[in-house]
Amino acid sequence: MNNARAIAPGKVILIGEHFVVGGQPAIAAAVEIEAQVTAELSSSKGIKVNSREYGEAFFALEDGKNGPLYPVYIAAREVLSIAGGSRGLNLTVESNIPRAAGMGSSAAVAVATAAATAKLLELELSLEKISEIAYRSETVVHGKPSGVDNTVSTYGGLIFYKKGAGFQRISCDVSPIRLVLADSGIERSTGAMVAKVLTLKESYPHILEHVYHAAGELAHSAKNALEEGDFFKVGQLMNINHGLLHAVGVSNAKLDSLVHAAREAGALGAKLTGAGGGGFVVALCWKEDAERVADALKNLAKQVLVTGISRQGVRLVESSSPLR
Ligand code: MEV
Repeated sequence: MNNARAIAPGKVILIGEHFVVGGQPAIAAAVEIEAQVTAELSSSKGIKVNSREYGEAFFALEDGKNGPLYPVYIAAREVLSIAGGSRGLNLTVESNIPRAAGMGSSAAVAVATAAATAKLLELELSLEKISEIAYRSETVVHGKPSGVDNTVSTYGGLIFYKKGAGFQRISCDVSPIRLVLADSGIERSTGAMVAKVLTLKESYPHILEHVYHAAGELAHSAKNALEEGDFFKVGQLMNINHGLLHAVGVSNAKLDSLVHAAREAGALGAKLTGAGGGGFVVALCWKEDAERVADALKNLAKQVLVTGISRQGVRLVESSSPLR
């Protein structure tokens, strides 16, 4: 086989980011915005990674050097070591998922890298293994990830996730709704935001334990509301969740202004999504209201995307197809 290609989706967290790191459940959805990785064998003794956004980097087979493409190398190296060989590889990353913005771009690239490299090397890896490899690559970027990003990118759909306990699929007809995503234009590091929240938690354990508990209750209530198709309630719970994220210090004036503009334009609910400090807000909207909400955000945001929840997780593709 000359080359193999895989696509994996980005994600949004609807309920529970940060609190999921502390053991509370979260709800995340795969979106129709994706990353594609092509793996090819090469005669060099190492792994070359090429990316539209970050250019090119070459890693020797036991390389410790860091940089934005290092996690891609880590995912491929894990697969190579399972295959028991020391083959040279060329990896090409193409991604439509905004980076450092809370949409799971690094996890999707790691998931697609593991799947494409395994196919190239004719290794049959389970989805569980692919997700696990992507998790290890994520630890290089984020330090202490909960595992929600690699899980939702691997399996797709709408999931209820608890660190260490795995995930459950949420059964819900999502056809009446759309997600409007607005970019604050502020890039930030997930690892730094996670560390900031954990420091606050250590400083005020007796106060924050209630906030974490409330976040867990939100996730359970939102799961029930999704299963009942009660999107009004899901929206309200997302609004409350934004308040809790504000309380732990990961919102800011820009994110708050986007959240309020989305609600005023008719969103069912809106909150920051992902690590906060910048990145995206997500607004839950009826399908027929989505364009109006998106228009209201266009003047405030760097970029506005309207997307649906995707059932699809990682998959192999035969030829280079246009990315969603
Ligand atoms: C990042 O997408 C979500 C966080 O909860 C971190 C994590 O779950 O690893 C902030």
